[in-house]
Parts: sequence; structure tokens; C-alpha cells
Amino acid sequence: MGFKLAVLPGDGIGPEVINAALQVLDVVSELGGVTVERETALIGGIAIDESQDPFPPATEQLVHAADATLLGAVGGPKWADGPKTPEQGLLRLRASLGLFANLRPFEVLPGLEEFTPLKRPFQGGVIIRELLGGLYYGEPRGITAKADGEAEAVDTARYTTAQIERVAHIGFQLARQRGVPLMSIDKANVLQTSKLWRQTVMALGQREYPDVTLAHRYVDAAAMEMVLAPERFQVVVTENLFGDILSDLSGGLVGSLGVLGSATVAGIGQGKGLYEPVHGSAPDIAGRGIANPIGAIWSLSLLLEWSFGLQPMAKLVQQAVRDITQNGIRTPDLGGRATTEEVTEAIIGQLRRLSENVTMDRE
Ligand code: NAD
Ligand code: IPM
Ligand code: MN
Repeated sequence: MGFKLAVLPGDGIGPEVINAALQVLDVVSELGGVTVERETALIGGIAIDESQDPFPPATEQLVHAADATLLGAVGGPKWADGPKTPEQGLLRLRASLGLFANLRPFEVLPGLEEFTPLKRPFQGGVIIRELLGGLYYGEPRGITAKADGEAEAVDTARYTTAQIERVAHIGFQLARQRGVPLMSIDKANVLQTSKLWRQTVMALGQREYPDVTLAHRYVDAAAMEMVLAPERFQVVVTENLFGDILSDLSGGLVGSLGVLGSATVAGIGQGKGLYEPVHGSAPDIAGRGIANPIGAIWSLSLLLEWSFGLQPMAKLVQQAVRDITQNGIRTPDLGGRATTEEVTEAIIGQLRRLSENVTMDRE
């Protein structure tokens, strides 16, 4: 079985955590008899430095030819005020691939309970973040100088019914699969895009998913309730900016942003995908070898599941991660002293041990 993987390490801790994920992939390939042809390309600040373009044509061609793309992170103070930013490269990558549903699962890993604000056991959940609409992409946008010497900035939020429906379908399907309610989050008391969001999600629910319980929250109240009653947020669907904010909040809920991975897909069972940790390039710790690799490794596990169809192997990687957090092997963001390399080696060692007890079914 062979797959093509595009690897985009990016900036800051991006290359450090992607290196860790690729070491895990080496072992997955060996244990699972899978051939993964990898090619690396530039994105973000490093791409601006090398080619004045945060998403160069060669990178675009590569990701379109690949079955899946694994991305580290982009951005950093060096490029924050330039005319071209690393983040523009990431937004162009997402738009170019047309993958609109960004799944951001969160769970408290074993042994990490003390790093969370939670006082009772908690199963975790998934935030499905719409990734190609809203304020991130709406036109017009920009900063213009006014005659009186002032400046004015404009961003535009836009959503169409079709954009809302296609991501809501994924929310309803996951909620149905898991037998839990779907929680839709908006700001329908103020924003027109959110009014359409709520109407569209409700109508779709009544029409096609009458068996799925649907709940709605305004985003401000949702932020409060996610901290106090996270069990109500097992499957969440929300627009682009709210999903960005609430997924970092879920990182706080589980004890560190460094453990969260994500999958961006165009539907359940659709092959192509983009996989990236939820965290950024973490300039404050970059280059020190202490970044938590779990977010990137978790993203790899989602890639194995969603794009390569290797569910048993994906589950094994996740189990290896859970076992090592349980055993206290942790980077400093989780109160530990282990390096990125040490955590990665521990996960790989555990993956090998687990695989001895399992016969891998290839699907
Ligand atoms: P960040 O996620 O990079 O860091 C926030 C905090 O979390 C920092 O204290 C950092 O040290 C810590 N952290 C993040 N990941 C960690 C990990 N793996 N291990 C240990 N600690 C970790 O967010 P920021 O500082 O607001 O942004 C820095 C840059 O990253 C910005 O340029 C931003 O635009 C960019 N960014 C990129 C992505 C992406 O590429 N997908 C995502 C978020 C932010
Ligand atoms: C994320 C990041 C990005 C986003 C930035 C870097 C463009 O914060 O993936 O969560 O806002 O989508
Ligand atoms: Mn973010």
C-alpha cells in the first residue's frame, strides 16, 4: 500500500514537532507495511525568506498531488509586520485545497488531570470549525488611509447557506455516530452571518437529522459553559473565528495547547486531508528542543485514520501517547522535564511494544 504525503514544517517549533511526527511515521510504515512517499516544501515565514511568497507555487503543486498534507506551524515576530505574512500562506493553503471542515478533538490524556481546571472525569469532545469562510476570507478587507490622517480598517464576515450546510452535515453525522447531541455555536443575537448560521443548522437538523438532538449557544456564554460543563460540548460545530478561539480554550481545558491535533477534510470518508496541530509556532520556546510533540503526533494519527484508512494503526499511536503521559514522560508545558526527542522516543518505544500484541488489519 502506498501513499503520497506533503510535509510542510513551516516556522518556529513547526520543524521540531514535524520531525517528531515523521519519526513516528517511520515506525508506523515499518510496523504496518505501508509505503509513504514524502516530499517537503516551504510555507510561511521561511517561504517568504526564500521566495518572497508564503505559499509558493511549488508548494501548491505538491499539496495537490499528495494524498495528505502534514503541516507544522507558521508565523513569528520576524514577519509579523511585513507586507506579506506567514499566516496568509496558511490561509491560501487551506483555500487552495478546498477543505472546509477542521476537526479539533480534545481529551484529557491520562495522568494530566492535575494540569486541567476540571474537577470531575471528562471524556472529551471535538470542535468542528468551519475553515474557509467568515471574517478570515470575506471581502472587502484592508486598511486605508483617510483624508483626515486617520486610518480605517475593514474586515467582512460572509457565509452562504451552502457553506454552513456542508460543515453542519459533518457535525450532525459525527453526533449521530457518537450518539450525543450536536452543539452549534454562533452569535445570532447580533451578527447576520450567525442568524443565517442558526437558521440553516436548525432547518438541516429538522429535514435530515431529526434523530440528533441539536442545541445552540451564543459564543460568549459557550466560552463560560465549556469551562464549567465541558461534557455538554462533545460535538461542536461553529464558524471559523469562534472555532479558532474555542479550540485554544479546549487546549486550556485539557492542560496544554501542545497536545491538540487537527484534521481538515471535505467530509467523512473523503480521502484527502490537511493535518496540523492546533498550536502555533511558539516563538517563546522555539529552537530549544522542548516543544511538546503530541499535537503533531496526534495530527499524524488523524491522518492515518482519515486519509490513509489505517484506523487500527491510528488508534495504536493514540494509545502509545496516552500510555506515556500516564507514565509521567512530559515536556515542560506539562510540568515535566523531558525534551521533544525524549517524548517522541518514548512514544515510539511504546508503539513498538503495543504492536507486538496486535495484528494489524489493513483496510
Ligand atoms: P502559540 O500557539 O504559538 O503559543 C501559545 C503558547 O502556547 C506559548 O506560550 C507557547 O510556548 C505554548 N505552546 C504552543 N505550542 C506548544 C507546544 N507544542 N509545546 C509547548 N508549548 C506550546 O500561539 P501564539 O504565541 O499566539 O502565536 C505564535 C505564532 O504562531 C503567531 O505568528 C501565530 O500567528 C502563529 N500561529 C500559527 C498557527 C498555525 O500555523 N497553525 C496556529 C496558531 C498560531
Ligand atoms: C490556527 C491559527 C491560524 C488560524 C492562524 C495562524 C492563521 O490560529 O490554525 O488556529 O487562525 O486559523
Ligand atoms: Mn488558532
